[in-house]
Amino acid sequence: MRIAMIGTGYVGLVSGACFSDFGHHVTCVDKDVSKIEALERGVMPIFEPGLDQLVERNVRGGRLTFTTNLAQAVSDADAIFIAVGTPSRRGDGHADLSYVFGATEEIARALKKPAVVVTKSTVPVGTGDEVERIIRETAPQAQAWVVSNPEFLREGAAIEDFKRPDRIVVGTDDPQAAEMMREVYRPLYLNKSPLVITSRRTAELIKYAANAFLATKITFINEIADLCEAVGADVQDVARGIGLDNRIGSKFLHAGPGYGGSCFPKDTIALLKTAEDHQAPLRIVESVVKVNDLRKRAMGRKVIQALGGEARGKTVALLGLTFKPNTDDMRDAPSLSIVQALQDAGATVRGYDPEGIEQARAMMASVDYYDDPYEAAEGADAVVLVTEWDVLRALDLRRLARSMAQPILVDLRNVYPVEDVENAGLHWHGIGRPSRPH
Ligand code: UGA
Repeated sequence: MRIAMIGTGYVGLVSGACFSDFGHHVTCVDKDVSKIEALERGVMPIFEPGLDQLVERNVRGGRLTFTTNLAQAVSDADAIFIAVGTPSRRGDGHADLSYVFGATEEIARALKKPAVVVTKSTVPVGTGDEVERIIRETAPQAQAWVVSNPEFLREGAAIEDFKRPDRIVVGTDDPQAAEMMREVYRPLYLNKSPLVITSRRTAELIKYAANAFLATKITFINEIADLCEAVGADVQDVARGIGLDNRIGSKFLHAGPGYGGSCFPKDTIALLKTAEDHQAPLRIVESVVKVNDLRKRAMGRKVIQALGGEARGKTVALLGLTFKPNTDDMRDAPSLSIVQALQDAGATVRGYDPEGIEQARAMMASVDYYDDPYEAAEGADAVVLVTEWDVLRALDLRRLARSMAQPILVDLRNVYPVEDVENAGLHWHGIGRPSRPH
């Protein structure tokens, strides 16, 4: 099949490259000339493990091309995916659909043959109806089926998630469109990935409900972690104890500094706006959003407490700055709130991250950045492990302890056993675990 992927951001680029790896012919389109030129030279706009090789292999195989010419890519495509950004609209938190609608108009004008127009961007319920209306008004003669096909890719594991999905969700009431989508996903379908075919509005809601549920799960265990700290229990054991119940499941029960990233914060707020508009309040999700925001700020206070309640004149080294490992994405990262709280309290903040320093620097110019975690820790009054990158999972704790001004480790991801930290001569502070077993 011939596929046009409109938007070569995170979702578009990963999806386009993976579709071409299945044997489809994919043209990835973007308005950003420099991005397209860089991609043609094999330079990726984002850090995602394995993406550069995947792109290179399929470009070489002649199945993957990049262009700024949307009309040309659309004119001979059987399936056109809209994968442009849907940022939070300034002021009200609604998803900003101007890029989606702009792309739709351009697609409508370029349609030359029957095709499915698929929204892959995360869009509020009812957006597909609007996309359909725009196509009908812009190109009344065109034969196009508008389908919703949300993505469930995690940054850092996106290729794996695309190739081995838990499910594929397709929203359309039209049997012909469903058949074309089956064709697009046939290689996965053969791998027995379940295909959930449902109405378009239901598919749109599935995406938001999934992200809101996962955000809720994380926030739930984070609050249980606070309770563990208060009563002297261990949140990791609680998570294991409840997660082994198949009805609950063990994933997304890692207590930490609060969720961040480009999806959960934005999507939960957009879902709340939809719920408000339809007078069907989602009170649990409302609480999740509030609790998570407060938690990120509370993490700064936790570090200050570890310093004995006074941060003025102290130096704190943050290890891991991105919102999660294996990405250079800093959007809504907990590190942003922690840095703010520490600097407000008069601390000097240092930062280390394996991939995110450039992005971090653009958002937090007043942090001193280091290329090495040990150098960042040298002479510091506290080291805070914020993001659990692999390279930060086996630090030489004795070496850290020896080089620091005060041997304090705040482990916000519970990476290190308390005993190991204490045996290395460091004072341990973590999330939801007693410093000594009760
Ligand atoms: C999330 C979803 O997991 C994907 O299924 C979805 O497709 C994507 O959003 C999207 O809507 O595009 P992502 O934001 O890349 O993916 O990252 P996650 O792995 O879900 O992590 C999100 C945040 O939750 C991170 O800050 C992470 O540290 C935190 N988290 C995750 C925890 O604190 N504890 C956990 O147990 C799991």
